Amino acid sequence: MSSESREQWQSRRGFLLAAVGSAVGLGDIWRFPYVVGENGGGAFLLVYLLVVLVIGVPLLLGEFALGRRMQSESATAVARLVPASRWRHAGLIGVIAAGLILAYYAVIAGWVFKYAALYLGASPQLLAQEGHAALFQAYVARPLEPLAWQLLGMALTTAVIAKGVEKGIERLSVWLMPLLALLLVGLAVHSATLPGFGRGLAFLFQPDWAMLARPELYLAALGQTFFSIGLAMGVMVTYGSYQPATRPLPGAAVAISLADTLFGVIAGLVIFPAVFSFGLDPAQGSSLTFAVLPQVFAQLPGGRLVGALFFLLLSIAALTSMVSLLEVTVAYAMQRWRWSRPRASLCLGGLLFLLGMPASLGFGAWAGLPLPGGHTILDAMDFFAVELLLPLNGVLLAVLLGWLWPRHEAMEAADLHARRLGRLWHFSLRYLVPVLVLTVLAGSVYRT
Ligand code: TRP
Repeated sequence: MSSESREQWQSRRGFLLAAVGSAVGLGDIWRFPYVVGENGGGAFLLVYLLVVLVIGVPLLLGEFALGRRMQSESATAVARLVPASRWRHAGLIGVIAAGLILAYYAVIAGWVFKYAALYLGASPQLLAQEGHAALFQAYVARPLEPLAWQLLGMALTTAVIAKGVEKGIERLSVWLMPLLALLLVGLAVHSATLPGFGRGLAFLFQPDWAMLARPELYLAALGQTFFSIGLAMGVMVTYGSYQPATRPLPGAAVAISLADTLFGVIAGLVIFPAVFSFGLDPAQGSSLTFAVLPQVFAQLPGGRLVGALFFLLLSIAALTSMVSLLEVTVAYAMQRWRWSRPRASLCLGGLLFLLGMPASLGFGAWAGLPLPGGHTILDAMDFFAVELLLPLNGVLLAVLLGWLWPRHEAMEAADLHARRLGRLWHFSLRYLVPVLVLTVLAGSVYRT
């Protein structure tokens, strides 16, 4: 077995920052703030925190423990856990889903890079007071340029992964994550000086307790937890496999989950005060980031700089998440097919770029494709991966970890020797995660 030669994180800090880098991504900045605001502000935030602690942390810890104990990438780790059962192929779902997510995530990252470049170049188009939505729509409909930026994103990701765990992922994270935190805090301090700060705070935090009666709130909290921490896709199993046995895991799982949540909350503090200061409506996802915020930046004194910093922030957040997704597939190819790291990086990076091309073309050349519900190709890929594969794999993982892994072994692998805590952890994996996630899965199937 190749476990002696297995790559490792050089430092505990490197591991933590790489995992936070994977977790903090577009999900925190363009999705989380809006989901909070829409679902009852502070009331949602409380439920979300609870879900993170009760579901997110246990599953994250379980993934780390599995990867580290099996000393293998995610699909092999599952196979080694249940070698003789037909569950042994289940780990493949995560690998496939990670590739699929990366394919379209790179398209959005490409838009982000383009906007960062526009702001850094002080493009005059961005100074106009209006027409930002049209500008964005015209941009994504162009046949070639978005593909070029998407390719750049994939090329950067591939280059980092080709360099390996320590020299690639760890070094990148150790440099970029502190910068990311600095940018975010700087933007938040600036945001506190804006006239809309109070309304932004209210949108984000003021609890609307009546929302607690709506099932959608719980579905949203669970979906956001999975996507935002980056669970059930093999990322954290694979990252855990590079962590030496001498460094305890539970504290890391808690710290990473809370750091991810904190980033999301601060991102909300950056975005909403600015939006409300100019009397605009908060929107979701692409339209917030590429249509509403540029309008804000155009009116804000010093807005060009703020815009440049914001898109730089988003570029970093996206890149460190893309790196983690590619690593899942590359680690698979290396272990299963015995490919060298450079070869696996290049082939899979290229392949996933091709797979993402339709997602990009869906906004222009292929926009006429008749998809159900008038969705774009990117939406369809996102729905399939995030709302179906992700919860499905979450349940599978929880069942594997909670039911098929002997309890004392699992607890030992997770460094949970304190018995009370270990039991709680196991209870969550065994009952809470599967039941709650199945409910969400049923909910999203029902909605389609
Ligand atoms: N967590 C990242 C975000 O918030 C995206 C991401 C990275 C992800 N790895 C993942 C999502 C694994 C699901 C599964 O944008």
